[in-house]
Amino acid sequence: MSRSFEGVHALQGVSIELHRHEVVGLIGPNGAGKSTLVNILTGFDFPTAGSVSLDGRDVTGWSAHRRGRHGLARTFQHSHSFRSLSVRENVEVAALGVGAGARAARMRAGELLDLLGLAAYAEAPAGSLPHGDERRLGVARALATEPSFVLMDEPAAGLPEAEVPEFAAVVRAVRDDHGAGVLLIDHNMALIMDVCDRIQVLDQGTVLAEGTPAEIRSNLDVAAAYLGESAVQAEQRS
Ligand SMILES: Nc1ncnc2c1ncn2[C@@H]1O[C@H](COP(=O)(O)OP(=O)(O)OP(=O)(O)O)[C@@H](O)[C@H]1O
Ligand SMILES: [Mg+2]
Repeated sequence: MSRSFEGVHALQGVSIELHRHEVVGLIGPNGAGKSTLVNILTGFDFPTAGSVSLDGRDVTGWSAHRRGRHGLARTFQHSHSFRSLSVRENVEVAALGVGAGARAARMRAGELLDLLGLAAYAEAPAGSLPHGDERRLGVARALATEPSFVLMDEPAAGLPEAEVPEFAAVVRAVRDDHGAGVLLIDHNMALIMDVCDRIQVLDQGTVLAEGTPAEIRSNLDVAAAYLGESAVQAEQRS
């Protein structure tokens, strides 16, 4: 897919494939096109060229809501909670939105708030949550739709370092217990290297590299994108 914004090539001929039971990391510097990619995959934006398919069906023209009902869920980089609804209600609304009954929605919300460590805030207004907890509420809302694919846009941003391993366990549970495919965007390399089966690196709207965490760690192009050419040249000389 490609996407331009008035001359800015946010994405240029990028391909990405996700499978169930797999965590794919999507990394790259600020402005690389990561959120644009997630927006296009989930129907919150549309490609200038290219297409999106889900389970072999072309869904490029589908609305975000229709894709959601067919198993595609996402979290947002910036808050999308209903601030005046309680944390629990936010999760229930997400389940109701894909057709769950009231009882099922309530049960799912209870389970997910436990899974994500949010049970203590269940009755608090979502707008009162600290940033890191609000990110996890976004994950709970995405999981409430019982998705086959979950695309997470920086879900661990604002999370205290000590809580990152717990969040990594949640991502693994989504893959292993729910069998979903996960796309994980994050700037926390320790988290990415820890939980991802494969990693794809974007830089200035193109795919710079893809591979296993070990392959990406040793890739000099990736280092250059993050550290600048000079740091890599210095490393090569040494
Ligand atoms: N709605 C828009 N209108 C104009 N330009 C946009 C729009 N959305 C994204 N862009 C531009 O497209 C490029 C990619 O942005 P994007 O938000 O996808 O990057 P990102 O990799 O998610 O960055 P970050 O790590 O900061 O979240 C940037 O140059 C950005 O300014
Ligand atoms: Mg982004």
